[in-house]
Amino acid sequence: MITTRLHPDKRTAAQAIAREMAELIVLRSKSGKPTVLGLATGSTPLPLYAELIRLRREEGLSFRSVITFNLDEYEGLGPEHPQSYRRFMEENFFAHVDVPKESIHIPDGLARDAARACADYEASIRAAGGIDLQILGIGRTGHIGFNEPPSSADSRTRRVHLDELTRRDNSVFFGDLAQVPHGALTMGVATILEARRVELIAFGEGKAEIVRRAVRETPSAACPATWLQRHPRCTFHLDAPAASRLQP
Ligand code: F6R
Repeated sequence: MITTRLHPDKRTAAQAIAREMAELIVLRSKSGKPTVLGLATGSTPLPLYAELIRLRREEGLSFRSVITFNLDEYEGLGPEHPQSYRRFMEENFFAHVDVPKESIHIPDGLARDAARACADYEASIRAAGGIDLQILGIGRTGHIGFNEPPSSADSRTRRVHLDELTRRDNSVFFGDLAQVPHGALTMGVATILEARRVELIAFGEGKAEIVRRAVRETPSAACPATWLQRHPRCTFHLDAPAASRLQP
């Protein structure tokens, strides 16, 4: 079931989600348990990372007990590449908080044997006890992670081909469409659906139509985000423009 939550602006949304994450981390660490977070890249979660960093610096929130799994990585981009998601995470989050290095997992865009790397990624998530809380953005194709249409509900971490709309949308970060990789490694839809809580964030008018489809359309591979309707605990955090097409 998808619950929608409207926030006055990005910052307030980020504060609300960061607070929930902090409470979960503190609660679990009090009983000696790690917190396994599924993380996303892209422009949408940036205010969330900024707020988590603020909680670390100003309120002493510790991430020592946190284990992270990122959703995806571009194929062919190594950790030093300015547009790799490994680098993105380092610059926008990990360099500023105390998640232990060995607790950070991001698919390896340079893996020689992608199928093996993806199977190992799934095994690492299982070994960590599964994902407690998964952060998601949503692409205009309906992708979650890089599960482009068509992606079935039982898809697992794998190598995928990026939709041309996604390549165009993401070319703003690369400066040039030709530089945007055609492939990626992504957690699957089933991997995402197994997370115990899912918090999807979408801001702006440009996401309004895909948010409407994700919430209202019958779940199908044609719009992978619709599979979230089958999740028992999924919240869409929206600003007013992103929620603007949800009114009946
Ligand atoms: C990122 C990811 C993608 C993005 C989506 C939205 O790790 O998996 O699904 O969340 O493409 O990107 P932005 O936030 O840049 O609009």
